[in-house]
Amino acid sequence: MYFNNIVETIGNTPLVKLNKVTDGIKGTVLAKVEYFNPGNSVKDRMAVKMIDDAEKAGLLKPGGTIIEGTSGNTGMGLALTAIARGYKCIFTMSDKQSKEKQDILKAVGAEVIVCPTNVPADDPRSYYSIARKLNAEIPNSFYPNQYDNPSNAEAHYETTGPEIWAQTEGNITHFAAGVGTGGTICGTGKFLKEQNPAIVSIGLDTYGSVFKKYKETGIFDENEIYSYKTEGIGEDILPKNVDFDLIDLFIKVTDKDAALMTRRLAKEEGLFVGWSCGSAVFGALEYAREHLQEDDTMVIVLPDHGTRYLGKIYNDEWMREQGWL
Ligand SMILES: Cc1ncc(COP(=O)(O)O)c(C=O)c1O
Repeated sequence: MYFNNIVETIGNTPLVKLNKVTDGIKGTVLAKVEYFNPGNSVKDRMAVKMIDDAEKAGLLKPGGTIIEGTSGNTGMGLALTAIARGYKCIFTMSDKQSKEKQDILKAVGAEVIVCPTNVPADDPRSYYSIARKLNAEIPNSFYPNQYDNPSNAEAHYETTGPEIWAQTEGNITHFAAGVGTGGTICGTGKFLKEQNPAIVSIGLDTYGSVFKKYKETGIFDENEIYSYKTEGIGEDILPKNVDFDLIDLFIKVTDKDAALMTRRLAKEEGLFVGWSCGSAVFGALEYAREHLQEDDTMVIVLPDHGTRYLGKIYNDEWMREQGWL
């Protein structure tokens, strides 16, 4: 048996029990380990779906160029799909993303344009604006726009949700995931809540992001926005893929707590995962400690792999510079 190309290997990632970091917690806590995808992240799932749907809609034609603003992982999924299907890729990225993420995208043939982080989303220099501008200028180009493209959440509705439901044999009671575009938590959460409306969905957010306050008050508070270091979660915009009705509550996690938990996952669980995985686990366990009962099963999505953060949270010197070790 073989796959026709690497894209066909996306999905069907394992669910792995957490054994040490869950000390003192009642119930079972399982991690959906998304680095088993070929691009080493959860984003492979939605990248291929956004391209499939664009091809079907006639938005992406042979020889076309895919242009996207990405923190790196979506870019990887798009680049792998572009190789299999014969497209070019140009990605805009904010300068806070790790150098590894830029180099990885270049390694798989993409052009990478680095843009400043410390400008508002609607500033012409932001990575959102530059992606839009290139899309307008380059003929036969397609801008997937992962923030607002419904194919993003649908990919998780069609794959991540059903996988988790089957893997837990319907026993899942709590679902936790970091929220960036919202695709993972809302697509997966929609499927799971359709199977069992009692499933609690927990969104992990960062300090410096607008989500938690918006959920709790309905106010988009610009004072909540400031630059933070965790990559992939939290936003200074409200993406259309975030359906606040599908997220029961948000928990904010600091950069430092996330970084330290990520390092524990590597050392104590053998899960060499990315920074936002520490955010997800730290926040989810904070909730679990208070609310999880013996018979409960919590599933936490771990979005990506540790290699992308070797120069940061896995680097002792960098950690000391932050004052975190
Ligand atoms: C490392 C990482 N974690 C978490 C997320 C959040 O996932 P989603 O965009 O589906 O909300 C992303 C998305 O950019 C990511 O790159």
